[in-house]
Amino acid sequence: MNTTTLPATPALDWSSLRADFPILDQKVHGQPLIYFDNAATTQKPHPVLDALRHYYECDNANVHRGIHELSNRATAAFEAARARAAAFINARSADEIVFTRGATEGINLVAQSWGAKYLRPGDVLLLTEMEHHSNIVPWQLLAQRTGARLAFLPVTGDIGLLDLSRLDEFLTREVKLFAVTHISNSLGVINPVAELCARARKLGVTTLVDAAQSAGHRPLDVQDLGCDFLAFSGHKMCGPTGIGVLYGRQEILEAMPPYQGGGEMILNVEFHQSTWKHAPHKFEAGTPDISGAVGLRAAMDYLDRIGRQRIAEHDQQLGAYAFALLSRLKGIRLFGPRVGRAGLVSFLLDDVHAHDVVTVADQRGIALRGGHHCNQPLMRKLGVQSTARASFYFYNTTAEIDRLAEALAEIQKFFAA
Ligand SMILES: Cc1ncc(COP(=O)(O)O)c(C=O)c1O
Repeated sequence: MNTTTLPATPALDWSSLRADFPILDQKVHGQPLIYFDNAATTQKPHPVLDALRHYYECDNANVHRGIHELSNRATAAFEAARARAAAFINARSADEIVFTRGATEGINLVAQSWGAKYLRPGDVLLLTEMEHHSNIVPWQLLAQRTGARLAFLPVTGDIGLLDLSRLDEFLTREVKLFAVTHISNSLGVINPVAELCARARKLGVTTLVDAAQSAGHRPLDVQDLGCDFLAFSGHKMCGPTGIGVLYGRQEILEAMPPYQGGGEMILNVEFHQSTWKHAPHKFEAGTPDISGAVGLRAAMDYLDRIGRQRIAEHDQQLGAYAFALLSRLKGIRLFGPRVGRAGLVSFLLDDVHAHDVVTVADQRGIALRGGHHCNQPLMRKLGVQSTARASFYFYNTTAEIDRLAEALAEIQKFFAA
């Protein structure tokens, strides 16, 4: 199965949650803001903004260094955020949580540290054709350094599902690592990552899940997924920019060399050599993003008060509603699956460049994204340079999607004239 359908949970008054997001209550170009760029970054609710403010007003100090009260509080807050992140994805221990700048840095950390230790010439790194540049370029750099080779599991045309009928052909004993996105940021495909990780594990292949688009949108359980690594970004799930999480299975993290050197990560430094702390601290050189971790913790608490299962259902409803509504327009090409899609739609209007769609929509207060979405190889495979994308979060409404459909019809008329 290449899509995921979730069982229903009790209903919620979604529109009441909008009041938690002060930024949504504004006009853009004289029109009420409709924010449909959530796959790029989400907005931040009051509890996250309050946590950041409280941290800086009351507890700000550097972590792990001082023995004064504020430093103790900052350290406690930072480590509590780590424990919260472990619970959020059901890691076995907080030691499996490395704080990073985001999904991109998490993937680079694995490529540089794990990759440098384990990859040999001729080894294969298996990716898929729908990966974000963040889950391609770090592996290209690694392949160039080590003589390893990249392979890509194909995507099946505009519907965008992974061609699982070819998995055996690609997932072979030469593969050392299989890195796959959970949710595609431009197709809205939800990949069956637990099944993919299980298939990889049978062959002893290490797995990495890019959860940038899923962590804030559905329940995540790394033990159920059975992955070795999983990376995500705080800013795509109501948290601040500059903070993210890399999960790694403890024994794997422990065996990996440090990623960067500096303060915080060492046990003892001599002029010519040093020793490091245990994971995860040996991967966190220098002063970390302490306020980011505090804000991320508040975001996780906020999402879990709503319920990630509920958020996933709501996403799927908005995604399905938008796909059905937009497919009624003549002269539109929609990408990704009709059913079981995440809460986003990518599309092209005949004879209108995606950037023109986004520019005119912006004049109507609608924030879309147009471009290659950091999926250039996928775009080439689909035979396009770019798409326009509307990506939703739980504070979006079907009325906003109606407004998008109207705006697109107006854009078609305008460009036809
Ligand atoms: C699927 C996917 N992976 C990775 C990333 C990179 O995330 P970040 O820029 O927060 O590191 C993104 C960002 O859009 C993404 O959509």
